Amino acid sequence: MDAQKPIIALDFQDMDQLWAFLDAFDEPLNVKIGMELYYTSGSQMIAALKERGHEIFLDLKLHDIPNTVKWAMKSLAQQGVAILNVHALGGKAMMQAAVKGVNKGTADGGQRPLVLAVTQLTSTSQSQLQAEQLSQATMEDSVNHLAGLAQAAQLDGVVCSPLEAKAIKDQFGQDFMTVTPGIRLIAGQDDQKRTATPYQAALNGSDYIVVGRPITQASDPVQAYQAIKEDWQRGLQDKGQIKEEEIK
Ligand code: C5P
Repeated sequence: MDAQKPIIALDFQDMDQLWAFLDAFDEPLNVKIGMELYYTSGSQMIAALKERGHEIFLDLKLHDIPNTVKWAMKSLAQQGVAILNVHALGGKAMMQAAVKGVNKGTADGGQRPLVLAVTQLTSTSQSQLQAEQLSQATMEDSVNHLAGLAQAAQLDGVVCSPLEAKAIKDQFGQDFMTVTPGIRLIAGQDDQKRTATPYQAALNGSDYIVVGRPITQASDPVQAYQAIKEDWQRGLQDKGQIKEEEIK
């Protein structure tokens, strides 16, 4: 998946909205598909997106016994998506099984999808961590611990806040990937609280940014996408990740 482009979170309720949105773009995109659409339209939709040249982050957050996750990941990898993910709370053995499954599902010589871990959901509060998971850890310690488990299980990285990306890279190394939602050009317009601009996310070390409503709900989605992409690429350039002549 081309890291110079933001990943657009296609959180639509139905396929008509999805295709109407995509028809406005005349270039291949990085897109994130979640459970809502996958459970209704599944592998056919993935094949149709790929036929149009789009690269896919399939955000299904698997969490089950290792054997089940292994075979499920094999079947998802066979669909030729670029990124898959699992819950780190499923445990190290489950994450290792996820990587095994993805390797099995990748054609010989093909590029295997990246496998990311979701640590603690951003919807989980510190008080829930204590009352429901019976954990005495702080949220930060819990997130770091789960990221470490993911790394030990050979996952490629984590989904995290752009504000956490630098600390994760400092602790787990520059090659451990951070994929960051919570991106806003202007903060405070909806339910995302801990946001960063695409430019800041690039400087903080995000490898990919995930952007939904600022593009999908914009009055001109293509223009919003271009503005976000330019801000992100300017950040990658200032960070020394890409040179001006490499910008696409
Ligand atoms: O519309 P918005 O830009 O907030 O969309 C962000 C996307 O990233 C959504 O699909 C959301 O579910 C997902 N996400 C998130 N925060 C996380 C994990 C995933 O916003 N911690």
